Amino acid sequence: MIYNEKKHNFKKYFDNWDLSKNNFVLFGASKECIQLIRTIKIILPEYDFKIKYLVDLDESALGNNISLYEINKAAYKSEINTDILNDKIFEVKSFQDYLNDKEQPKIIITSDAHYNRIKDTLIENNKIEDLDFTKYRKIAGVWPYILKKKTHIWRTDILLTEKCTLNCTFCNMYMPHYKNPKHKNINKIKEDIDILFKNVDYISTLHLVGGEPFLYPNHKEVFQHIGKNYRDKIDNVLITTNGTLLPKPEVLDLIKKHKFLVSISDYTDGINYKRRFDIFIKKLNEKKINYFTRKDILWSDFGDPRVSKYEKLSDMEMISHFNKCVAPYRGLSNKKLYFCHLNTSAVLSEILEDDPNDYLDLENTTPEELIKFDVGFIKKGYLTFCKNCNGCYSGIEVPVSPANQGVRPDPVLGTTIDQKST
Ligand SMILES: C[S@@+](CC[C@H](N)C(=O)[O-])C[C@H]1O[C@@H](n2cnc3c(N)ncnc32)[C@H](O)[C@@H]1O
Ligand code: SF4
Repeated sequence: MIYNEKKHNFKKYFDNWDLSKNNFVLFGASKECIQLIRTIKIILPEYDFKIKYLVDLDESALGNNISLYEINKAAYKSEINTDILNDKIFEVKSFQDYLNDKEQPKIIITSDAHYNRIKDTLIENNKIEDLDFTKYRKIAGVWPYILKKKTHIWRTDILLTEKCTLNCTFCNMYMPHYKNPKHKNINKIKEDIDILFKNVDYISTLHLVGGEPFLYPNHKEVFQHIGKNYRDKIDNVLITTNGTLLPKPEVLDLIKKHKFLVSISDYTDGINYKRRFDIFIKKLNEKKINYFTRKDILWSDFGDPRVSKYEKLSDMEMISHFNKCVAPYRGLSNKKLYFCHLNTSAVLSEILEDDPNDYLDLENTTPEELIKFDVGFIKKGYLTFCKNCNGCYSGIEVPVSPANQGVRPDPVLGTTIDQKST
């Protein structure tokens, strides 16, 4: 979205979505739904977030009344802590029930995976974006800022190392494309974290990734730095690992002490490391560490990062391509906040030139600029890397598997496609 002061005036936007004057319906019984309720409760405890009911495209699968705990289990095992939510029960209705509701409460879309489907359904029923419906991320950024001048960002990722124990062809961090992969300098990582928290009051999820985070020689120091200095400013500290390397006992103790959450990608169906993987899980169980495994991750090919396949699209078509992408992950690197972490890695791997359109310089920004950037106002209306990328849950899903290892064949350079053929 290109920022337009008249159209996107924060105050006007907030007046439409005033927390104290409205009832709301959350469309999408998903992990984003639980996290939004949780985040608002943490940052704005004195406000009553009045949720009339939930709507889900697949309401029959969930039953009419459901607790947040059950949604959490159905969505992503125990990824989100439901402790402060008192296991509240919500009615889940169909979209037809919503249409029959005379009040027609304002709708907050709380699903990344089904965002485009829900948005299309609402538009087909004459609902207007930012007036009748909006996206959870805007609410989560704008409410804390307008009501309490608090800067909240939903999620950012930090790439600790460019090295990995595997070499997945379709890795969304483009591991096979690094010609000279390096471990990040520990002081630079600490500086990045420090400058982030100079600008941001609260983050719902800080995600530590790589490459393989446990291959990074200074991972313990990073965990200590976050745990000691910033733990109260982060809801979920998430470490994603492939489970090939066993962390030392003192590292596991640190993870336990600071209540970090470990997400373990289980690639053992296609890659032979089941014995190590099982030992990893056993150790986490012994230490009673909060973790979840992900075996059924649907991998999609985001596209060959070297190929500018959308080069021929016009600016307007590119803006539409960007608006369909729900990439939840900002990326923190070299004192910059990138809008998309895939973009961060494409720059670090030297596939893509760094472009100020694509990031916010954390040494030189304001709280309002930060919130606007985080909710999607980009100078050009899209990112440079969007020309190379199929997007996240954008409707251009190309199923692939982590079992494929090694760099893909050299692209036929200059390959481009137009929107109609996607
Ligand atoms: C890039 S990995 C880094 C951490 C660790 N090496 C791992 O594989 O879990 C972070 C997450 O991105 C996921 N991922 C990587 N490439 C993907 C793709 N093409 N589609 C969907 N998820 C992907 C991984 O499964 C993992 O959950
Ligand atoms: S997805 Fe594969 S190559 Fe990429 S970081 Fe994870 S394990 Fe390594």
